[in-house]
Amino acid sequence: MQYFIDQNQVSFEEFCSHVPSAKLLVDFDDLAIAIHCDDDHVYYIAMNRQKVEIKVKNILDYHQKFFYKNSLYSQPLFKALGLKKSQPKPRVLDCTAGTLKDALLIYHGFEAITCCERNPLAQFLIQTALEQQPLENFHFIAKACTEIDLGGFDCLYYDPMYQTKNAKALPRKEMQFFRDHIGNDQDIDSVFSYLLKSKKRLVLKRSQKSSAMGSPHHSYGEKSTIYDVYLPR
Ligand SMILES: C[S@@+](CC[C@H](N)C(=O)[O-])C[C@H]1O[C@@H](n2cnc3c(N)ncnc32)[C@H](O)[C@@H]1O
Repeated sequence: MQYFIDQNQVSFEEFCSHVPSAKLLVDFDDLAIAIHCDDDHVYYIAMNRQKVEIKVKNILDYHQKFFYKNSLYSQPLFKALGLKKSQPKPRVLDCTAGTLKDALLIYHGFEAITCCERNPLAQFLIQTALEQQPLENFHFIAKACTEIDLGGFDCLYYDPMYQTKNAKALPRKEMQFFRDHIGNDQDIDSVFSYLLKSKKRLVLKRSQKSSAMGSPHHSYGEKSTIYDVYLPR
């Protein structure tokens, strides 16, 4: 992986040191500093773009408020991951950390999580966010899930970027940024098969409009999102 600042190649450490730690993207005289990802290169450039950052505290505060009024155990994602009252909490690996939204939701319910991410731009956003707001028992691995020893986990959560079918339904700003700069995951079938072979409980997130992969043992649905569960054989 190569990192550039204004087209000059620099080390990852130097690259990071140039990014203000307060925010990934900051305003300078109306110019937003943005990270631009192009094939295998990451550029740190100034341009007029929307700001995108992962706000860990805001996301956690949101979950805190939501679960003040709603039960953890009735949430489809938690049911899918096997969270049960008065039973030890499963050790979860979020294989697709992305904007950390789901990882932080799982963290809220399970009080611990490991998540991983393979895209360098997303890794950078996540690492910057976690430096700002370090969390106990929240572990991030900057690698593809296929490069990680899955032995220490009870449950794997996989939420790949599918091809958009409905261009009218605009995702939230961060996910739109991911779509523009990271793109669809082309290897969903092979990663899914790889994770299935690990003999762990596997939870696959999909849109209600798309059909399930293989034959899930259970499916837990919300209005637009379904969590398919594949149990180890
Ligand atoms: C749809 S997004 C995940 C969204 C995430 N659940 C959230 O709450 O923001 C998919 C992300 O998973 C990453 N990804 C896809 N396949 C992966 C793999 N095999 N290992 C690690 N990361 C992966 C992509 O780079 C992308 O950032």
